[in-house]
Amino acid sequence: MTEFIPNYPPGQVDVDPYSVPLESLDVSNPYLFAANVHEPWFRRLRDEAPVHFCPEAETGPYWSVTRYQEIREVDTSHDIFSSEPIILIRDPIAEFPLPMFIAMDPPRHDEQRSVVQPVVAPANLRNFEPIIRERTIDVLDHLPVGQSFDWVDCVSIELTTRMLATLFDFPFEERSKLTHWSDVSTAIPGMGLIETEEERQEILLGCLEEFTELWNQRVNEPVSNDLVSMLAHGESTKNMSPVEYLGNLILLIVGGNDTTRNTMSASVLALHQNPDQFEKLKANPELIPSMVSETIRWQTPLAHMRRTARVDTELGGKTIRAGEKVVMWYVSGNRDERAFDKPDDFIIDRPDVRKHIAFGFGIHRCMGNRLAELQLRILWEEILRRFERIEVVGEPGRVMSNFVHGYTSLPVVLHARA
Ligand code: HEM
Repeated sequence: MTEFIPNYPPGQVDVDPYSVPLESLDVSNPYLFAANVHEPWFRRLRDEAPVHFCPEAETGPYWSVTRYQEIREVDTSHDIFSSEPIILIRDPIAEFPLPMFIAMDPPRHDEQRSVVQPVVAPANLRNFEPIIRERTIDVLDHLPVGQSFDWVDCVSIELTTRMLATLFDFPFEERSKLTHWSDVSTAIPGMGLIETEEERQEILLGCLEEFTELWNQRVNEPVSNDLVSMLAHGESTKNMSPVEYLGNLILLIVGGNDTTRNTMSASVLALHQNPDQFEKLKANPELIPSMVSETIRWQTPLAHMRRTARVDTELGGKTIRAGEKVVMWYVSGNRDERAFDKPDDFIIDRPDVRKHIAFGFGIHRCMGNRLAELQLRILWEEILRRFERIEVVGEPGRVMSNFVHGYTSLPVVLHARA
């Protein structure tokens, strides 16, 4: 089996992007994101080469699309830009393909998405609201006030994992396994969590084993409102192969977990760094939904989605050949000065606050976007009822990834309301 041990240059984080020849600029280096220095690299691409070809990169040659408009163009042209075989910048591992509907084109994509979509239908979201609120209150009421703790671990991970267990109707006491599988799915081997691809595969096969037991129970019961039951009974999913079941599980686990988790952490950080915005929010809590959207833009929890050109095509005056990788950098499009006024600023009452592209566009637009917003809204409603301020008391730890754009830790101290 081949191993995928990346060899990115860590030293690149100290390099001025304007000193690098434009043709060899490589924004896929995960160290840039871990060190939080990626933004000037993307700014240079947006200004000088908004559709840019990087011929030599750790994960092979790729095109970068960095402006808001062109990203929307690619995302809505699924007839030209395919989501197969994968939506990550790295190619699939030949020995361990993981088919999932985010990495499928119509008609298969549409058929499988429609099986699980009801889990986030408006009526279901209304049913979730009291459960989400109850759990949010439970977590917040058990936090230490006036002493330092890790917000990522105690709040963001805890709340999103509880939600995920509900979506799957997964045994609640074993819910930390869901977090582990999510983290393992997106980890880069050799950078902490797992050492090799083989280790990843072994852990994920364990995930499949546990979920197969749940499938076997639920396939013989009437269809219910959880994702496993929906997949086991769905016309276009009930005959999936085990790897396709695993692929779709990973999609739903990562989709529902990392993204919302990192938005929860980002909201705390952004409001700490922008005390005037926090004051604005406290004075006017009706701004919570708008603040949530602004946080999702400001953070952009998934940095990119990749497409593969089906045919030779033109984009931004460049010719892209059939078979070439095209990476839509949402993390850059959401900071595009052509689309947003003062894009680096965090402005909770920004007009058109929902126009960000952090949820993507077109047929793959995030299925869980309303659920994520609901979780965030409830979290902030309950925070404002309890706390005067959430003070960030140390540097945030950042995820080493060019895909998941988020935090490993965020030390905070809570100040109770007088
Ligand atoms: C702030 C939170 C979230 C962000 C930023 C986010 C972002 C994204 C993005 C960028 C895409 C791909 C869009 C495209 O290719 O055009 C996507 C797809 C998806 N997301 Fe989310 N997501 C979030 C929360 C969730 C949640 C809570 C769920 C759980 C239900 C979820 C489930 C999915 C699924 C299933 C897809 C695949 C849709 C398809 O291929 O048709 N996401 N998400």
